[in-house]
Amino acid sequence: MITADYLVIGSGIAGLTFSVKIAEKYPERKVVVVTKANEDESNTKYAQGGVAVVSDKENDSFKKHIKDTLIAGDGLCNEEVVEMVVKEGPKRLQELLHWGANFDLDDKGVFDLGKEGGHSEYRVVHHKDITGYEIERALLARAHQLPNISILPHHFAIDLVTNHHVKNIQSEQLQCYGAYVLDQKSGEIFTIRANSTLLASGGVGCVYGHTTNPKIATGDGIAMAYRAKAKIRDMEFVQFHPTALYEEKGESSFLISEAVRGFGAYLRNKDGVRFMLDYDVRAELASRDIVSQSIDSELKESGDSHVYLDCTHLDMDEFKKHFPNIYKKCLDHHINVERDWIPVVPASHYLCGGIEVNKKGQTSIDNLFACGECTRTGLHGANRLASNSLLEALVYAHNIYKYLCKHGYEMSDVEIPDWNDEGTTLTKDNVVIRHNTQQLQALMRDYVGIVRSNERLHRAVKHLDLIYDEVEELYRTSKITTSLCELRNMINVAHLIIGQSLERTENKGGYYNLDNVKKM
Ligand code: FAD
Ligand code: SIN
Repeated sequence: MITADYLVIGSGIAGLTFSVKIAEKYPERKVVVVTKANEDESNTKYAQGGVAVVSDKENDSFKKHIKDTLIAGDGLCNEEVVEMVVKEGPKRLQELLHWGANFDLDDKGVFDLGKEGGHSEYRVVHHKDITGYEIERALLARAHQLPNISILPHHFAIDLVTNHHVKNIQSEQLQCYGAYVLDQKSGEIFTIRANSTLLASGGVGCVYGHTTNPKIATGDGIAMAYRAKAKIRDMEFVQFHPTALYEEKGESSFLISEAVRGFGAYLRNKDGVRFMLDYDVRAELASRDIVSQSIDSELKESGDSHVYLDCTHLDMDEFKKHFPNIYKKCLDHHINVERDWIPVVPASHYLCGGIEVNKKGQTSIDNLFACGECTRTGLHGANRLASNSLLEALVYAHNIYKYLCKHGYEMSDVEIPDWNDEGTTLTKDNVVIRHNTQQLQALMRDYVGIVRSNERLHRAVKHLDLIYDEVEELYRTSKITTSLCELRNMINVAHLIIGQSLERTENKGGYYNLDNVKKM
């Protein structure tokens, strides 16, 4: 057993920002960060567009950023939260700069601001088209300078330790005491006991096979919190990014940033028609839900597999300066952006819902906090405004830090039993896991995609139940492996997405159900 003052699950922007802040403030307290892959592997690392923050006082204002966020969220944002996050943005960005993150400046030495769908002004602070890589680099570098932070890579959090595990607890209110963690290299499972636990475990993109997210995005934190009986909300609002690079063979996953459309690129169908003009006056710069649903509708009508992003009319020297990574990636795929249109298709990208937290980042379980993409804060409502996610993580990491500075801490002395794997054996049959993962991803793609219907959702429930039974049986009898846990977690997440989709009777933002249209 390891004992820590703070256990942080995840080393993306949310987990690292919190860890750095609390470790700087209390050098005598111990922060343990567990992370299931290399320490930098995260959705954060792949963020392209940037961080939405009001910095151009002449043209932009908090009021405009708030309004854009509320419009994108389609009436379901918490206005108080939106105002708090937008107004905190500039201060939190300053901290990132202080820790050494670099963002692009223009000739006058002020931020070179980008624009993305749903933004009425240029306000996206970025580092070329690899903003997340730069943020992750800076945060890790700062974390490594702080001796009271221990980062444990290749350590997988399996489950939270709560009242259910601990003996002689009188309280009805759920409490978290830490987590059971698998050392993925040795196979050993041990307990990390902590006064406060932070879930910063990121998104769920891999529940759909076709995603912009890296392989770590399997919704583990949300599934753990759900099993521990924390409140989970708004899971039906899965955001599909309109422009993932289309690849004929295999699943495309590389993102062509929305900032490319902000830079002036057009979406065209195979006949060359700029179809977005027919769907929204903002055309290519409508919010993401609208662009993805429009592409989906074009593709259903034409039977085509993809549409195109046309950059050929843009200033190529500037394009290469702003988007060197995208330019190179396209060349690797034999697409010369100067003369070829980029084939693109929507892909699952972001989850607007998740573990419900209040403004202090508290979940419904005592001593359990959550931050970043695994949470539902009320900022995004039914659809996240582009580049508001990194911002949200920075602001909430700060809020949790502030709360924990104010509230004294006391290590509880309850007895936590060791992980019990009696009666389990090592499964050598990875075929069952692989097969069920593919089945799960196929059913989510086919039945729970951009456009849903009650019939498809009910079919999805039936198929998911079969997968659930098979995997639970395997889980009960097998020694824990990462892929088995991830599959189990993705099943929990899929169950939440489908269940909460069926509960939504009105289409909003990123949620579109044909049966709700009929009712209108
Ligand atoms: P992550 O960065 O995903 O970190 C999660 C961490 O938890 C990882 O370290 C992971 O390994 C770890 N973890 C997960 N499960 C476990 C477990 N069981 N045990 C131990 N560790 C675990 N947002 C913007 O605002 N602007 C953008 O420009 C932007 N571009 C994007 C581009 C791409 C391609 C993608 C995929 C996303 C983009 N987003 C963007 C969204 C944004 O990057 C993410 O929402 C944000 O980075 C999430 O940060 P996080 O810290 O919550 O999670
Ligand atoms: C992008 O660069 O298009 C992604 C931005 C985001 O997800 O906020």
